[in-house]
Amino acid sequence: MTYQTILVETHERVGLIRLNRPQALNAINRQLTEELLSALDGFDKDAGIGCIVITGSEKAFAAGADIKEMQAQEFATMYAGDWFGNWERMAAVRTPVIAAVSGFALGGGCELAMMCDFILAADTAKFGQPEIKLGVMPGMGGSQRLTKLVGRSKAMEMCLTGRMMDAQEAERAGLVSRIVPATELVDEALKTAATIAAMSLPAAMMVKEAVNRADQVPLSEGLRFERRLFHSMFALEDQKEGMAAFVEKRKADFKHR
Ligand code: CAA
Repeated sequence: MTYQTILVETHERVGLIRLNRPQALNAINRQLTEELLSALDGFDKDAGIGCIVITGSEKAFAAGADIKEMQAQEFATMYAGDWFGNWERMAAVRTPVIAAVSGFALGGGCELAMMCDFILAADTAKFGQPEIKLGVMPGMGGSQRLTKLVGRSKAMEMCLTGRMMDAQEAERAGLVSRIVPATELVDEALKTAATIAAMSLPAAMMVKEAVNRADQVPLSEGLRFERRLFHSMFALEDQKEGMAAFVEKRKADFKHR
């Protein structure tokens, strides 16, 4: 498949997607949205891929939804077309997805990063929800996911003032899992993704499903869900292999990858 707004590469069992609209700081327009979702879907269906990385350029992961494309829209077209509704498709991706963020991750860029399973940030990363400065508000999940990730007070301040958060503040607040030097970001993300891709794929998918469930249900339900998944893992050859490898002091060679 040929894409115009993204670059897609495969590194052994890792799928790498680079947002590629440099002239607009990777602003997310409809074409980029469709191409990114299609590439994600392709990797997700590919049994040879065990982890996916989404990254941008050194200057910008993505500077938001494309303001020039949205500017002339009216309520009727936004509402009837359910603008941004197609991002729900990202929740259907079962393969782990890492966001590797360098430079600006603003508005829809920050929201896209938060849709991923975790964020690795370059020391140059800047996060923000500046939509209020445009007379609007977040529309790709920012008011919800940022609040869950960093808490109400900081999320409210970020969305009400539109100010940016640097990588250090984002790490302290729990928005990003780790900070790495900008020059090493993609290599580090690929390395982390390769580690995940070497695990049992069903185990990784169940981890993802269970952690995501924590956002949706009360603790007692989440704990029960986790336990049931844990029990079910004893039907996998990979549980036998993983535990045998530990006892035999060797590296596990998982079958379901
Ligand atoms: N949409 C469309 N084009 C964008 C864009 C965006 N979100 N962000 C940057 N660009 C374009 C600029 O218009 C400019 O193009 P031209 O050269 O044709 O004028 C090009 O990218 C380079 O940008 P700048 O010259 O502005 O670069 P800078 O280094 O001076 O500033 C910036 C960088 C601070 C990120 C600035 O570009 C900026 O503030 N961008 C907009 C950020 C924003 O408001 N994002 C939220 C969008 S709304 C949204 O995302 C809704 C939602 O919830 C989904």
